[in-house]
Amino acid sequence: MRKDKIVIANWKMKLTLAETLNLAKNMKAKLSELKKGTIVICPNFISLADVNKILKGSNIRVGAQNVFWEEKGAYTGEISPDLLVEAGCDYVIVGHSERRKYLLENYEIIHQKLKAVLNIDGLTPIVCIGENTDERKTDRRDFVLVDQLHQALGGIDIVGDQQIIIAYEPIWAIGSGIAIEPSEAEYAHKIIKLTLKDIFGLQIASNNFSIIYGGSIDGNNVKSFADIENIDGLLVGGASIDANEFYKVAKAILK
Ligand code: PGA
Repeated sequence: MRKDKIVIANWKMKLTLAETLNLAKNMKAKLSELKKGTIVICPNFISLADVNKILKGSNIRVGAQNVFWEEKGAYTGEISPDLLVEAGCDYVIVGHSERRKYLLENYEIIHQKLKAVLNIDGLTPIVCIGENTDERKTDRRDFVLVDQLHQALGGIDIVGDQQIIIAYEPIWAIGSGIAIEPSEAEYAHKIIKLTLKDIFGLQIASNNFSIIYGGSIDGNNVKSFADIENIDGLLVGGASIDANEFYKVAKAILK
């Protein structure tokens, strides 16, 4: 069975509060005609509740860009999975490469965050993996992906129809303007799928996981990613802060 496709906008820390709310309104109008698949927008923390209000009743869901692993307590500056649900989030990005780079998040932390998110009903994690330039140059990509998946997911219990999205984002492709070759993404996604099968078995790997690609996707190159086996969707950064460009991406992939 082929999964419903998903397209996720990661607005990072690129917009002011006013720009964020304005873009949410534009996206709501522009994307309303897209009836298939799932569209998610991940704005900054402080606009989550307002963006959720704007998008209520639309075909767009709201996600957060990060989460903490504890439920409650003295953790200054952190946001729990429960708070995200209260703010209207259905999705949350876990372990984005920019957090791995600037905040030194490692896969031990990502594993803890993932466990905390899976404890909460109705919150779907988007777990980021991907090799850096050096790992790519030295042909270690496959090993890195397998290792990151084992560290993030090993020992995790998946119950019922809980969904987990794995975002394959080669670090060298993020924000570079140069996306991966679609055939290379297809190959990497196959490695990811096989690893999930090794960890969880065929049924859970197929039913509970989606594998999406992220890294310099835009309105021009999206078409070559639209029909690729094993690519269940896209995570879009730069091209997602322009309503017209994101519409092109979403339209091409959600069919
Ligand atoms: P990009 O970002 O589309 O600007 O490369 C993708 C991401 O970081 O999720």
